[in-house]
Amino acid sequence: MSHTRPSPVASDRIELKARKVSFDWERTPLHWVPGDPFTTHTINVLHLLLPAGERWFVHVYRQVLPLIRDDSLREDVIGFIGQEAVHSQAHDDVLPHLQRLGLDPTPYTAQVDWLFEKLLGDRTLPPGRASRWWLLERVALIAAIEHYTAFLGDWVLNADELDRRGADATMLDLLRWHGAEEVEHRSVAYELFQHLDGSYHRRVRTWATAFSALVFLWQRGTRFFMANDPSLVDGRASFAQFFRAGQQGVLPSTPEMLRSIPRYLSRAYHPSQEGDTAQAVAYLTASPGANGGR
Ligand SMILES: [Fe+2]
Ligand SMILES: [Fe+2]
Repeated sequence: MSHTRPSPVASDRIELKARKVSFDWERTPLHWVPGDPFTTHTINVLHLLLPAGERWFVHVYRQVLPLIRDDSLREDVIGFIGQEAVHSQAHDDVLPHLQRLGLDPTPYTAQVDWLFEKLLGDRTLPPGRASRWWLLERVALIAAIEHYTAFLGDWVLNADELDRRGADATMLDLLRWHGAEEVEHRSVAYELFQHLDGSYHRRVRTWATAFSALVFLWQRGTRFFMANDPSLVDGRASFAQFFRAGQQGVLPSTPEMLRSIPRYLSRAYHPSQEGDTAQAVAYLTASPGANGGR
């Protein structure tokens, strides 16, 4: 077992706390990136995956708390749990609005719920020694996923093209509040994994699983929304559209995403090397949704 323990690039440890949020979806249109259903629905996939996914983070981390032998890390994990619970609920709250607009998400969310609650739940393996292995495997999976939530958080905080295209202000605020908290707590999952295990083989293996699953679920979710969008005739999604949207700056660029892979797999990786805590905190101070919907 390899315990590569690179330390943070800057001591920017801050106290993590869940913020109360409030978003009013009343005026958010179906295509909240105007005239661009593909970009809208690609980002909408977050509302399909995150409610169950982040509930699962919380479920796994609650089991892990008694295993943590470092007080400041335990505090961070408790703060992380609080933030992810609010994220999960905030994305869940968008779903009834999509349903009112004619997009019924339930055929897809039922499958995502099964994935996180059953396949990635506690009873996939028989009890005994395997349960510790399975818990560590899930802790490592969460660290890999959090590499991408931090990547996406940093991306959306800087995605000025969405503002230029007139994207819905409430949806942008939800994405940027969430993205900013992802940047803020980006080191927690990785540090927890290092603390409990830190095996490089496990990091690589779980990255491969997490990355493949995310690509699979994301393209499937985008195709699901495009096919079921009541305003589109024969709505389709393709990799070429994704690549172009990335070049235009309304979605993450494919080359940027590819470059993030060797960073996570580097033995010198630490999440503090990615994103900008000061930018995230500045957004959280100004976010209308995170400050009482002002
Ligand atoms: Fe989150
Ligand atoms: Fe997160």
